[in-house]
Amino acid sequence: MARVVHLAVRARYRLLVLALAAAVFQQVPTESLENDFFTWNTDKPASSHPRPKPARKPAYPAGPPVPDPFPLLSAHPAADVLRAPAVNRGGADEEHYPEATPLLIGFTRNWPQLLQCVVSYVAAGWPPGDIYVVENTGAMRANTEGRLTLQNPFYLNHTQLGMLGVNVLVTPTLLTFAQLQNYFAWTALERNWTEYFWSHQDLIVFSLENEAANASDSSQTYYTLYERCVGVLQYLRQAGIPKWAHHFFAYDHLTLVNRDAILAVGGWDTHIPYYAGDCDMYVRLMWAGYWQGETTVGLILDVATVLDDVGALLRVPGIHAAFAGDPGPEPEQADDADDDEARRRLVERRGETWEHLVAVGYRMEEAKYADGGGWRNTWQLRQTGGQGEPFARDAEGFETGLHMMIDTGRSVFAEKWGHRGCDIARIGIRADDAWQLERDWDPETEGMGHQGGDW
Ligand SMILES: *[C@@H]1O[C@H](CO)[C@@H](O)[C@H](O)[C@H]1NC(C)=O
Ligand SMILES: *[C@@H]1O[C@H](CO)[C@@H](O)[C@H](O)[C@H]1NC(C)=O
Ligand SMILES: *[C@@H]1O[C@H](CO)[C@@H](O)[C@H](O)[C@H]1NC(C)=O
Repeated sequence: MARVVHLAVRARYRLLVLALAAAVFQQVPTESLENDFFTWNTDKPASSHPRPKPARKPAYPAGPPVPDPFPLLSAHPAADVLRAPAVNRGGADEEHYPEATPLLIGFTRNWPQLLQCVVSYVAAGWPPGDIYVVENTGAMRANTEGRLTLQNPFYLNHTQLGMLGVNVLVTPTLLTFAQLQNYFAWTALERNWTEYFWSHQDLIVFSLENEAANASDSSQTYYTLYERCVGVLQYLRQAGIPKWAHHFFAYDHLTLVNRDAILAVGGWDTHIPYYAGDCDMYVRLMWAGYWQGETTVGLILDVATVLDDVGALLRVPGIHAAFAGDPGPEPEQADDADDDEARRRLVERRGETWEHLVAVGYRMEEAKYADGGGWRNTWQLRQTGGQGEPFARDAEGFETGLHMMIDTGRSVFAEKWGHRGCDIARIGIRADDAWQLERDWDPETEGMGHQGGDW
């Protein structure tokens, strides 16, 4: 009996839904829907005067167009041009190490910057087939189908990464930094990677090739940045090693991740979308007893500018290392004119020298941190075009929204731990204090969670 009544109610409900749908599709004119949409949420009478449309902001000045960072890729180069210089080819050309060494590089904006980073990893000996650019633009298939252009901040050229032998994964929607980290762990689960590396994209990396020269006439062996990373992985996989979660190479510019440690503590806190998420994660792992060490494997430079032609990193003959705005070497470090001319001739014949590339890389890093780091993330604003292309967003507006989410993430962290700053472990806070502590600051007089001196 109860069942019959239940069915009858459901049937009546279905009829009602059908009737409503019919009413919407057949009887309500669109105009009325629009009027309803714009008035239904206000308690003012419909006749009252709406606020006038806000005034327009002054137009944001568009920068000059960004140049193609690697023109050779559009000229059908021979495949053997697009690979590491011979000195770094060991790990990439010879038989692969038995360990899987996937390197995930998240990308949202600034193709020239990404391409420079990827090419530097290839040049430093990372096997291109182990590099996974994670396209996190939110542009769905627009880049896969080649529908964005270089001046669009979210442009990424799948074909060119393919020419380098590099893989691309596409996220289904634009993820925050914390979500992207969890996506990395998820991808590792799907692909049976027990460990993986991830890297920021605003880097230029180098193997310590200056050691190769010494190695050839001594008993020392030269190892590339990649081979040293493999060495660290092999070390951490040994029996008797303390349980570990991350291993850092130049803080987390390049990081080796132990997937199951991330999963064991519940992954990254996605309510802390950007900055402070790293503090939250690394401290929680520390509290859970995981070791997170650091090793030097090569030069990892944090840069905001892009070489005029990133082909210089692969030592393509004729491509010189240079970047716009380079102040040049300090006078005492500059080559004299004869040396400089000899070097230029050498570059024409055999490609750029490691020493010059590294010197230029250091100057790029200095430029990023000039003026106390105020320019640190200006690279993210470079491209401003792409209006009218699929998934187009206002470059400046995107930046504004992002900064608001960064602030909100810090506020969430501050509420979660009762403290504004990454030094939560040092002041005695413990894992089970999450969300249990009163604020240690006064919002009335000291500002909001994302403000204050400890960030
Ligand atoms: C991507 O690169 C290829 C090869 O250089 C080029 O032919 C193609 O036009 C590029 N696609 C876009 C959308 O720029
Ligand atoms: C991952 O490992 C499982 C179990 O060993 C296997 O069934 C599955 O096919 C593997 N998946 C991939 C993508 O290799
Ligand atoms: C190479 O060997 C020379 C002489 O022993 C030494 O001075 C130099 O520091 C070494 N260079 C590197 C990069 O190890």
